Amino acid sequence: MCGMESRQGMDEQSIEVCVGRFQTGQSLERQFYTSEQIYQQELEKIWGGSWIWAGHISQLANKGDYFLFEVGSESVIVVRDGTGAICAHLNVCRHRGSRICLEPCGNLRAFSCPYHAWTYSLNGDLRSRRMMPDGFDRADHGLLPVKVIDFQGLIFICLSETPPPIEPALERLAPMTAPFQFENLKIAHHASYPVPANWKLALENYLECYHCAPAHKEYSKSHSLKDPAAMTPELIEAMQARSVNVGLPTGELNETGEDARAPGADVYYRRYPLFPGYVTGSRNGEGLAPLLGNLTDYDGGATDIQIGPLNNFLVYSDYLVGYRFVPTSLQTTDIQTVWLVRSDAEEGRDYDLEHLTWLWHVTTLDDERIIRHNQEGVNSLYYRPGPLSSMEWGIVDFHHNYLKMLV
Ligand code: FES
Ligand SMILES: [Fe+2]
Repeated sequence: MCGMESRQGMDEQSIEVCVGRFQTGQSLERQFYTSEQIYQQELEKIWGGSWIWAGHISQLANKGDYFLFEVGSESVIVVRDGTGAICAHLNVCRHRGSRICLEPCGNLRAFSCPYHAWTYSLNGDLRSRRMMPDGFDRADHGLLPVKVIDFQGLIFICLSETPPPIEPALERLAPMTAPFQFENLKIAHHASYPVPANWKLALENYLECYHCAPAHKEYSKSHSLKDPAAMTPELIEAMQARSVNVGLPTGELNETGEDARAPGADVYYRRYPLFPGYVTGSRNGEGLAPLLGNLTDYDGGATDIQIGPLNNFLVYSDYLVGYRFVPTSLQTTDIQTVWLVRSDAEEGRDYDLEHLTWLWHVTTLDDERIIRHNQEGVNSLYYRPGPLSSMEWGIVDFHHNYLKMLV
């Protein structure tokens, strides 16, 4: 049939051929959303080779506190060890490979494998094992380490032994985010929105606001990002004057796409204005929680932050929302949304959870719907890559490094 793509897809084509056919400024071709072979390579190269935002320092307040982060076949234990350091280990026993930690979070004095009771220190060293033959070297059988970065309390992990060199970019980002004092936050709420779509459709949707005006009625009332014409120089300058007054920087940092110093080392920071009448991302425009860090007042802005290709944050003056789009199979994704407020804020007294989470709950439900329909359309044998709008530059940048990391 004219114009129809073969169902055999990847059986006949290598990933390199698909990547070679890619045209900058177009959406990806169908195989990137339908091929199990590409998906498995992504788990290895993209999810296995990128920094992933795993959690927040407040989840590891005490020695022995741990949480798990899971993606694909991997499970990682992130823990505060006996010396107080944050470290991470693969949740795979060095005896015969059993999962060791089964609960998603908790506090432990040591890790004990539920299979044959090998026991590991919090720092991953093998401590005890039963009846092993002479010559068994305990030092060779510690838990496999996973790389960790603590950026102002946001904890990132990377499964690769050679992670993207993101530290220099984080140093440039640090003074811009410092006034928010991310290290002094706590998780107010986290939610998971499963969507029957490939993870890239979910991430690509987050990376553009071309869809905001048609798809997000509530968001578009308050966020000028929905329309370049609405984000006037006057609106930006008025916000920046207020930002300076409340102690926030007005600069931008864009090291994504071609401007990233290395694939996977993307970092982005930009604060943009909310519409008049809105001091934060709320339903009625009013503040929702105590001001973050050392801010002295609301400036009526919202900051987009990207750290690595997979992690996105939105910072209002009084709360932070973190987003990850974690694949659970080729065409199922967990949209993981985390709301953080100042650590001393008390629910009921200082914030109302329903008000705090309202905007990004309704907005994510909209996104779930449009992403699902996107996958349905992309599954069609008649789907062809289409041209991206100038408002979809974030997708262009994502494709740039995604393809470099994939092959
Ligand atoms: S698999 Fe862990 S002790 Fe045997
Ligand atoms: Fe959206």
